[in-house]
Amino acid sequence: MKEVMDYIENNRERYIDELKDFLKIPSISTLPENNDDMQTAAKFVADKLQAAGLNRVEIFQTEGHPLVYGEWLGAPGKPTVLVYGHYDVQPVDPIELWTSPPFEPTIVGDNIFARGATDDKGQVFMHLKSVEAFFKTHGSLPLNIKFLIEGEEEIGSTNLSKFLIENSDLLKCDAVLISDTALFAPGVPTITYGLRGLCYMEVEVTGPSRDLHSGTFGGGVPNPINVLAKMISQLIDKDGKIKVAGFYDDVLKLSKQERENFKVLKFSEKKWGTAIGLKYLTGEKGYTTLERIWARPTLDCNGIWGGFTGQGAKTVIPSKATAKISMRLVPHQDPNKIAKLFEKHIKKIAPKEVKVKVTSLHGGYPVITPLEDKATKAGAKAMQLAFSKKTVFMREGGSIPIVVEFANTLKASPVLMGLGLNTENLHSPNEHFNLNHFQLGIKSSAYFFKEYAQ
Ligand code: BES
Ligand code: ZN
Repeated sequence: MKEVMDYIENNRERYIDELKDFLKIPSISTLPENNDDMQTAAKFVADKLQAAGLNRVEIFQTEGHPLVYGEWLGAPGKPTVLVYGHYDVQPVDPIELWTSPPFEPTIVGDNIFARGATDDKGQVFMHLKSVEAFFKTHGSLPLNIKFLIEGEEEIGSTNLSKFLIENSDLLKCDAVLISDTALFAPGVPTITYGLRGLCYMEVEVTGPSRDLHSGTFGGGVPNPINVLAKMISQLIDKDGKIKVAGFYDDVLKLSKQERENFKVLKFSEKKWGTAIGLKYLTGEKGYTTLERIWARPTLDCNGIWGGFTGQGAKTVIPSKATAKISMRLVPHQDPNKIAKLFEKHIKKIAPKEVKVKVTSLHGGYPVITPLEDKATKAGAKAMQLAFSKKTVFMREGGSIPIVVEFANTLKASPVLMGLGLNTENLHSPNEHFNLNHFQLGIKSSAYFFKEYAQ
């Protein structure tokens, strides 16, 4: 492995320069005005896969954004690893809070700042570059490899779901290597063995058939904003329990052992809160912060609007009010079942004087992977070798909906080898990625191919 590691060291600056080119492409999947950029980003990934040494590279168009596929199957008898990641990014607003423009990658100290730096372009790029290092030094890889890099992870992976089912032969593999999560702490090699699922809903409340003067009508008619606010306030009780009937029925309880394992991680709630400007934390009674965010289901309002929200004052009773409400789920909750329970509950608590429309926007299943799995073990060993430190295991509060489908459709073991940090502002202004972790990630990836091949 010495040649591979030396190659990675010696090409550090060029790797960073190439990453910058990737980060310059504004591949925001949710905004139609960026559709051309999605094609550009897909082409960029395809070209880099080709240049790294893969011998079959293809862009698959979908009804949404394209999927990039690449493979090298020159190691018969050896296992096949599928590397999954995403080239799409989140929108940049509020843009005024960025200290450097989101699509002009800027290095400050050890970090590179740009939208998508840590989620997930920087992390996708690590695997491209470890493959390149193998081909440039050995002309081959120790195992068979496939890449599948999508452009719709941030909007629910709908087209990838279909593609997976229709192309399960093409994607056949033994393990799926994913770097789209975080290290437990800077410099600490980490394998994530659990992800939360998601159920994302929209609730629209309609009162009067048009906006009304709040003096002429106020007090005599239902105000949809007041009604919606009251309904939302009834969704969680004073102990932080979600009141949707049946919500907890399928929740996998935290075992004593797991609670012990979380404690060993020495997580400082105080530091965690301070870093985000909070002196006091809240959540479900009877659980620690780590338990709340990793292993308990939650409900949050992600947006709420209605009436007048411009500058100044307007005396109005709006006709409508709307809220986006999402629930993070844990094994073995089913997002479709939860969506139905939520709708039923909302309809039940809605007063008769308003009309309520409930829409399910998207969802994803939670994941938990066995720690004894061969691929997981190889991942832990690989990171240990790259970092020269013992690997820790954690769960994650965020979601990557497609992971369960890999496990179910391809019968392959997912390995979540994330190199990001939860302090790297993903989905918010000034997203960045630590370049030392980038380098260690390339090495971890290379060690993984070696370890898993054995
Ligand atoms: N990379 C994240 C998942 C993640 C978040 C990992 C935080 C580690 C820490 C992923 O790209 C993401 O943001 N997923 C969405 C999925 C949703 C849009 C279906 C999420 O969790 O909100
Ligand atoms: Zn991501």
